[in-house]
Amino acid sequence: MNSNSNDKLPTAIVTGAARGIGLATTKLFLSKGYRVAMVDRDVPELQNASDGLNPVWPVNCDVSQQEQVNAMVHSVLQWAGRVDVLVNNAGVADFAAIQDTTFERWQTVMRTNLDGVFLCSQAALPALRESRGCIVNIASISGLRASTLRVAYGTSKAAVIHLTKQQAAELGEWGVRVNCVAPGPVKTKLAAAVHTPAIVNAYHDAIPLNRYGSEEEIARVIVFLSSAEASYLTGQVIAVDGGFDATGVGLPALRIP
Ligand SMILES: NC(=O)c1ccc[n+]([C@@H]2O[C@H](COP(=O)([O-])OP(=O)(O)OC[C@H]3O[C@@H](n4cnc5c(N)ncnc54)[C@H](O)[C@@H]3O)[C@@H](O)[C@H]2O)c1
Repeated sequence: MNSNSNDKLPTAIVTGAARGIGLATTKLFLSKGYRVAMVDRDVPELQNASDGLNPVWPVNCDVSQQEQVNAMVHSVLQWAGRVDVLVNNAGVADFAAIQDTTFERWQTVMRTNLDGVFLCSQAALPALRESRGCIVNIASISGLRASTLRVAYGTSKAAVIHLTKQQAAELGEWGVRVNCVAPGPVKTKLAAAVHTPAIVNAYHDAIPLNRYGSEEEIARVIVFLSSAEASYLTGQVIAVDGGFDATGVGLPALRIP
């Protein structure tokens, strides 16, 4: 573990930081002079990802478990003494038809994608009030546009979008801003598990920019929303999706050649 004793450095907590969008966000925060608490439940991957990064504080924590979340925030405060930014990025995807979505599968998705955001935000709130910090929740275009196979995933992400607005409404009083990023498809391990080659091609056809996004393109918006540049921005949902959400009719046959 690497630590840094400089109390003045802004501190970000990034959940799901061991890979994908969370790891890219961690690296971008580090390049901007933040300390980052890297939170993940995949210990080997977290160890691997955090090796050589500085100043970081890797924390093994399942965001769906309240006791682990409280202990995580406590350990971050012991390390850094402050929390300026919380990025609720940890998420799981499970695509299934409604009749195949057992209650257990539904709950597994909700526990991480929705309960995790609620629990981490609540645990970090006293520290965020003190720093007049901010929260960035990671939803998905699946929370903005309904589609097949996403009854649990899409609903969890739509809930995260509304939770963002609830949090913004209540926490603005204390100077705490809360915004949401809704990524379009990004080739991470999460997407690889649920995007077949046919789905990848269909996304390309339906996205005006005609491609997947990169982890770094999502990270840049997360870090912007966390910065003083976004000081009057709260309660907003930004789709970083190559235009997917903006286009109601994405029929390939309607594309201009
Ligand atoms: N990749 C995409 O296409 C895409 C699109 C829209 C939204 N998103 C969202 O972006 C976020 C990051 O996704 P990604 O694509 O980088 O995924 P990823 O699978 O590459 O990374 C997710 C990380 O979260 C961790 N994690 C999962 N559940 C956890 C839990 N309960 N506690 C702690 N850590 C946990 C995993 O171990 C992993 O390291 C997710 O919320 C996802 O829903 C991704």
